[in-house]
Amino acid sequence: MIRVLASDGIEKAGFEKLVALGFEVVEQFYEAEELKEQIKNFDVLVVRSATKVTQPIIDSAVAGGRLKLVIRAGVGVDNIDVAYATEKGIKVTNTPKASSISVAELTIAHMFAVSRFVNISNVAMRAGKWDKKNYEGVEIFGKTLGLIGFGRIAKEVAVRAEALGMNVIYTDVVGEDENLLYKYGSLDEVLATSDYLSLHIPYNKETGAVIGKENISKMKDGAYLLNCARGGVVDEAALLEALNSGKLAGAGVDVFEEEPTKNVELVNHPKVSVTPHIGASTVEAQTRIGEEVVSIIAKFFKK
Ligand code: 3PG
Repeated sequence: MIRVLASDGIEKAGFEKLVALGFEVVEQFYEAEELKEQIKNFDVLVVRSATKVTQPIIDSAVAGGRLKLVIRAGVGVDNIDVAYATEKGIKVTNTPKASSISVAELTIAHMFAVSRFVNISNVAMRAGKWDKKNYEGVEIFGKTLGLIGFGRIAKEVAVRAEALGMNVIYTDVVGEDENLLYKYGSLDEVLATSDYLSLHIPYNKETGAVIGKENISKMKDGAYLLNCARGGVVDEAALLEALNSGKLAGAGVDVFEEEPTKNVELVNHPKVSVTPHIGASTVEAQTRIGEEVVSIIAKFFKK
C-alpha cells in the first residue's frame, strides 16, 4: 500500500479522499530525529511550514528507499531543501495558487488593525482600560500602498486595496507586469512613496532581509509595514528600532525570523499587530490545498 505522511496535517476531506483512493494516510508530526527514522516507511511526505525537510531527512529517506514525492501543502518551499531532494530523485511540488486570497485578506486585516488600533485596544480593553483618547487612527482611503513583489498574492492585495480607495504602486524583480493596471516603480520609488508597504516575496538565504535599516531609512516617516510573506525578509531588530524611534507608525506581522517567535519585544509592541503565521489558515484555503494535494498524489501514482 502506498503510504502518505501528512506531518503538519491535512484537511479532513483531502484525508478521506486519499483513503478512498486506496492510500494509507498518517497524520503525525515528528521531531527531526524521529522523522529521520519514520520517513523510511513512507512514499509521500506532505508538509506545511513546520516540518523542515533538510538534507539529513532526505538522506535518510533515500536510505529507506521509499520516498518519491514531497508536497508542500502551501506556497513557500524555504523549509525544504528542494535542490537536494531533486538531485536525489525525489520530486518536490507545492500548491502555489490555493491560498492567495486568504493571505491577501490577512494583509488587509493587519492594515486596518494598525491604522485603527484594533490590535492594541483589544489588549487594553481586556485589561479594563477605556483608552478612547489614545486611539485616533487614520483612514486608509486615499493612501498609497506599495507592494514589494507582484505575484499572485500581491495582485489579490492590489485589487482589494484599490476597491478601498487606495493608490497602488508595486515593484518586482521581474520588472513591470503586463496587465498595466497599477503603477510600477523601482524599489526606491516604492519605498519613498508608500504610506503602507507590504512584502510579497519569498525568502532568499543569499540576499537576506529586503527591509532592513537602510531601506527603512528610505521609507516615508510615519509609514506602516506589513509582512505576511516570510520572516526573514524583514530585519526584526531594524523594524523595532524604527517603531521605537517613531520612523514607522506601525507594523502588521504574520511571519517571524524564527517560528514560533521568541521576539517578545516585537510581539508585545503597542504599534504592532501580530498573528502566528496564519495567512493560509482558512477553511477555504486549506480545502483548496487539500484538493490539490489529493490530485497531485493521485496523478503521480496514476489513481
Ligand atoms: C505558505 O507558504 O503557504 C504560507 O506561508 C502558509 O504556511 P503554512 O502552510 O505553514 O500555514
